Amino acid sequence: MTQVPHVSLNDGTTIPQLGFGVWQVSEEDIVPSVAAALETGYRHIDTAAIYGNEEGVGRAIRESGIPREELYVTTKLFNNRHADAEVAIQESLEKLGLDRVDLYLIHWPAPSQGQYVQAWESLVTLREQGLTTSIGVSNFHRHHLQEIIDATGVTPVVDQVEIHPYLTQEPLVSDIRSFGIEVEAWTPLGRGPLEDPAITQLAEKVDRTPAQVILRWHLQKGYIVFPKSVTPSRIKANFEVFDFELADEDIATIDGLNKNERTGGDPDAG
Ligand SMILES: NC(=O)c1ccc[n+]([C@@H]2O[C@H](COP(=O)([O-])OP(=O)(O)OC[C@H]3O[C@@H](n4cnc5c(N)ncnc54)[C@H](OP(=O)(O)O)[C@@H]3O)[C@@H](O)[C@H]2O)c1
Repeated sequence: MTQVPHVSLNDGTTIPQLGFGVWQVSEEDIVPSVAAALETGYRHIDTAAIYGNEEGVGRAIRESGIPREELYVTTKLFNNRHADAEVAIQESLEKLGLDRVDLYLIHWPAPSQGQYVQAWESLVTLREQGLTTSIGVSNFHRHHLQEIIDATGVTPVVDQVEIHPYLTQEPLVSDIRSFGIEVEAWTPLGRGPLEDPAITQLAEKVDRTPAQVILRWHLQKGYIVFPKSVTPSRIKANFEVFDFELADEDIATIDGLNKNERTGGDPDAG
């Protein structure tokens, strides 16, 4: 079976570099999709309380029979629970049917609420209580990161941010890495890059699909990535990205597609 490389995190743990994302996977699709991913060999699942599918993720995990210690499960604290993380994580764990997650993230800083520092202090406590092995954030900019680190002395292990060929976020990536934080790339395939002529030409050149080329670009950039699909053939194909390499010039071609084009919201606007 394909061996997925692990990325070392700043708390001494590791995370599989390729996982399976489940945003917008419906109640009907969640169990078969996660089951297909686990069957394919994915061992890292990225969900969130707000996705509304933690129960299905948990069910697919249980039905797979795969030992818990072989799996890496991430879930996230949503904006409306920043003052209530202790209860929110218990609700997530109950839905997942787990006694701890591997990684718990603050989903968005939601700066207009002014509670993300308090939320981070709570996550530090949740980690001490063993309810999550690691803690991190999502959609945090440099100044949000600086603020939570200054307040607690605790550095997140990852920052999960939107990155794809139309939004390469190089300045943000350097900021994140300057703290010793690993980068997770959400919406890795973007909306549009799969049909971009530069990507389809590269795919022809290396005899792979456009999605495989984009995922390979992420992996070679060192990002942790978890494409979502409810289509069994795509779930499989998105996992077959460890037996070829893009040349430096191909990486540079994809880097050059950046348009600073977000598919999601600006974290500072929330
Ligand atoms: N932290 C955050 O704020 C945040 C925000 C967004 C996403 N995320 C995380 O990141 C994960 C991935 O992002 P995403 O779900 O937005 O987008 P994505 O994984 O980049 O793309 C998913 C879309 O691409 C299609 N697709 C998947 N594989 C394909 C392939 N091989 N060829 C052609 N099309 C393919 C899927 O269609 P089908 O499903 O129909 O096959 C789906 O429409 C999420 O599931 C979630 O875990 C986090």
